[in-house]
Amino acid sequence: MSATSSCRICGDTVTEFIDFGKQPASDAFVKPGEEDREFFFRLAVGICGSCDMVQLMEEVPREQMFHEDYPYLSSGSSVMRAHFEGLAKRFLTTELTGEDPFIVELGSNDGTMLNTIAKAGVRHLGVEPSGGVAELAATKGIRVRKDFFEESTATAIRSEDGAADVIYAANTLCHIPYMESILRGVTTLLAPNGVFVFEDPYFAEIVERASFDQVYDEHFYFFTARSVDEMARRHGLELVDVERLAVHGGEVRYTLARPGARQRTAAVAELLASEEAAKLTSPATLTDFRERVEKNRDDLMAFLREQRAQGKRVVGYGATAKSATVTNYLGITPELVSFVCDTTPAKQGKLTPGAHLPVKPPSAFHADYPDYALLFAWNHAEEIMANEQAFREAGGKWVLYVPTVHIV
Ligand code: SAM
Ligand code: TMP
Repeated sequence: MSATSSCRICGDTVTEFIDFGKQPASDAFVKPGEEDREFFFRLAVGICGSCDMVQLMEEVPREQMFHEDYPYLSSGSSVMRAHFEGLAKRFLTTELTGEDPFIVELGSNDGTMLNTIAKAGVRHLGVEPSGGVAELAATKGIRVRKDFFEESTATAIRSEDGAADVIYAANTLCHIPYMESILRGVTTLLAPNGVFVFEDPYFAEIVERASFDQVYDEHFYFFTARSVDEMARRHGLELVDVERLAVHGGEVRYTLARPGARQRTAAVAELLASEEAAKLTSPATLTDFRERVEKNRDDLMAFLREQRAQGKRVVGYGATAKSATVTNYLGITPELVSFVCDTTPAKQGKLTPGAHLPVKPPSAFHADYPDYALLFAWNHAEEIMANEQAFREAGGKWVLYVPTVHIV
């Protein structure tokens, strides 16, 4: 019998289809000497038999993940900086052209998207519970409310600032289990003709690429057009547009509006039809996904053990939240991957969650190139490989494990 839980969207039964075992909070980098203070939970994913929402079986308390020391910075990738600047410019010429328009961003982090909006002098508010990153945005002149967005926050914003023409969230909505409160908040805050736009990893891409490392504590939901369509309808909203994005390993940007306020684009029907044709959430597809993930796990572990046996050195590149799942699912130790290099100041000098691999700045990588670099930040492969051309010129090789273990 598979484990079950209750769907956070519709209350029906969620049936587990993959289990990654005991895992730490993925962004909880550990100070050396504090290894015994870590929080663990069981990371497993299931699907709702009724609304099809793919979701974690266990919820991690939000304060364990989003706090003063939350280390992730949106500005850490030049590709993502350009992505957010492009979208902000698009909002400025489309949704934000009325009289005194207002945009609210959930999970505004260090202000990478709102920076362009603020510079254009448009009324905005970032809602960001993680104090350190919220402070970084504030120092750039961005208006930030240090808070979790939920129904009560939305009510307060509505009474202080009025209705929002755009509510936007990137890589944030899928992090929030308490969706009922969020969507009530959205309907409270959204202007009659406003749009709620959010972008998150697309479950179809995860299945296709067997990118199992997209599964970690912060990624509570794995959206599809079908499950978002259903979720929107249940909460008095309508899915009116979808757009596929190449960033972060393949995402979809969903646009929701009040029923009848916007014409639904053809792209919605197309994506819904493609999911149905692919039998995306059928038991056979999910079993095949699990089997491919287990093969990736075994192949990568065999590769790392082989390199150790041959006296070769492997270093990790990118101490991503995703890498917590990989290192803890496989049981990777510093004997197999000696350290992980990462540009994020708040991660350097610490140990990766659970697996306790030391995190060092890229200078440590440059000082003594390893034989192989295991690219945990595979979603930024082009950018990183271009910046690190000298590694390959020096004879180094990249190891990737999505969609299968391969050397570049
Ligand atoms: N939007 C940025 C991006 O795409 O780069 C940041 C994404 S980061 C992975 C997720 C962000 O959501 C974190 O900064 C976290 O603090 C924030 N967050 C988590 N729960 C939230 C909530 N209930 N309301 C607003 N922000 C939240
Ligand atoms: P993400 O995949 O969740 O965006 O995380 C990417 C991580 O990789 C983040 O900790 C920053 C790091 N990184 C580098 O160290 N060098 C780089 O060139 C890029 C793009 C990211």
